[in-house]
Amino acid sequence: MPAVVIVGAQWGDEGKGKATDLLGSRVDHVVKFNGGNNAGHTVVIGDQKYALHLLPSGILTPGCTPVIGNGVVVDLAVLFEELDALTARGLDVSALKISANAHVIADYNRILDKVTERFLGSRRIGTTGRGIGPTYADKMNRVGIRIQDLFDEKILAQKVEGALELKNQILTKIYNRRAVTVEATVEELLSYADRLAPMVADTGLLLNQALDRGETVLLEAGQATLLDVDHGTYPFVTSSSATSGGACTGSGIPPTRIDRVISIVKAYTTRVGEGPFPTELHDDFGENLRKVGMEYGTTTGRPRRCGWYDSVIARYAARVNGVTDFVLTKLDVLTGLEKVPVCVAYDVDGVRHDEMPVNQTDIHHAVPIYEELPGWWEDISGARSLDDLPPNAQKYVAAVEELSGARISAIGVGPERDETVVVHDLL
Ligand code: IMP
Repeated sequence: MPAVVIVGAQWGDEGKGKATDLLGSRVDHVVKFNGGNNAGHTVVIGDQKYALHLLPSGILTPGCTPVIGNGVVVDLAVLFEELDALTARGLDVSALKISANAHVIADYNRILDKVTERFLGSRRIGTTGRGIGPTYADKMNRVGIRIQDLFDEKILAQKVEGALELKNQILTKIYNRRAVTVEATVEELLSYADRLAPMVADTGLLLNQALDRGETVLLEAGQATLLDVDHGTYPFVTSSSATSGGACTGSGIPPTRIDRVISIVKAYTTRVGEGPFPTELHDDFGENLRKVGMEYGTTTGRPRRCGWYDSVIARYAARVNGVTDFVLTKLDVLTGLEKVPVCVAYDVDGVRHDEMPVNQTDIHHAVPIYEELPGWWEDISGARSLDDLPPNAQKYVAAVEELSGARISAIGVGPERDETVVVHDLL
């Protein structure tokens, strides 16, 4: 089973880090193919907790080659901070490979991300402020800086100068900010070049050769389906392709080589930032999910918006990504509820929608139609097979599976690595 994609089904923070890590010891390469340090994986191993933003979670698995693909935008300061922090904790990070074609988040793009959000006021996206959107915009505008540019000082200076020509006009004339100098940007980027050099590779070639040898490649998406720039709740999305299609463009592995698409879906729903969220709860139930599920952003610390499970979203994710297996995470957070509502469809101005409405306005107006399932009170963290779950938790899993369009192959019953029910083998 050589090439496997892992994607989030909802708005991110589904617990992909744990699922990736579950497979980690059986895969040879773990590839991050989109996004940048806007992501946040929390992986718990024993009594150690690792919060990763930019690095693929495979970095924690000995013998696995972690790869940052061409589709990623890289903040070099964050890259070395994360590598240094892991090294200080005794991990060997020397296997990391970074695509020569990945784009670099320059200082001016971080500044622009923040000032643009402030300028937008009530129309803001609620970005992580890490410069992600402006860097992808530069890539599409063909004024981006790539990793390989750091090894040609003359070209780098030319490209930074070209990019800053317009950006400094915007910074000074529209946002009333100081201009950024070409020298400062170039100097900062060049300061990373020597350390970066041994990691830079033609990662597309390297990964395809690994597949030729029969090795296993895991492609892990940052963010999630509803934050995908094409398939998400646009414009309240991130600026990259966070669905399974993005795994191909962001890594150089063709679609014909992808064998399996695993989607991580939380047993309830969360979202950070602005944008529509039909099953969002503004009551004590929402507060309870936030508290019990510890729903605060890994990257920004922001409290996450919380709501019930939405099977319209799960069905959509199954379709858009071609999901072969779902991993249902954080089922334990739902323990102790009298009734557990599951959204089965939306009501939009009196019309029932079983599928995601195509118009953004309809998604904003969607009222969830709920089916209420009986709750359970037993501690489920010790469950390792479906039969170990209380009957009502089993019913919840069966109902969600039936509604969501793909089989559930694993269930998270606690934060620890081994607190998982495996129903079908994932590799
Ligand atoms: P950006 O990716 O910083 O441009 O932010 C765009 C939107 O995506 C905002 O609503 C962010 O909160 C959201 N977002 C970005 N990365 C993540 C993530 O890893 N988890 C959840 N939401 C995210």
